[in-house]
Amino acid sequence: MKVAIAADHGGVALKGRLMRVLDAGHEMLDLGTNSEEPVDYPDYARALGRAVLDGQAERGVLICGSGAGAAIAANKMRGIRAALAHDTYTAHQMVEHDDVNVCCLGARVVGAELAAEIATVFLAARFTGEERHVRRLNKVAQIEREGI
Ligand code: RB5
Repeated sequence: MKVAIAADHGGVALKGRLMRVLDAGHEMLDLGTNSEEPVDYPDYARALGRAVLDGQAERGVLICGSGAGAAIAANKMRGIRAALAHDTYTAHQMVEHDDVNVCCLGARVVGAELAAEIATVFLAARFTGEERHVRRLNKVAQIEREGI
């Protein structure tokens, strides 16, 4: 799968680790940042969301210190369904039920090995397409269209 990955300075070290792990099974698109120089997470969320929406990547992995800012910013983009996952159950269920296309991680919250498992499980998961999930996602999309 084509996977975009991006991080702010809080997540740059974890991004490097995930790049090495995920590169074995996926085509990785690294959108930075690439140093510990402080940057603003919305800039990286925007770049990653664009890559997913433009079809350069099917899914994204977005990392900041807590994962919270990354998720907030990514979810402002129409068509991005971002969720914070710090356990493997959430990592697959959020795709199976909610068709999540961006997995957010907090590098200051989870260790690198757990984060690698979470990202691997997220990328292996598929949306079930079951009627009740489609119905709920349509309601989410309706909220998005209303631009409240
Ligand atoms: C940066 O210090 C930190 O605020 C950022 O990485 C993130 O945790 C925001 O949610």
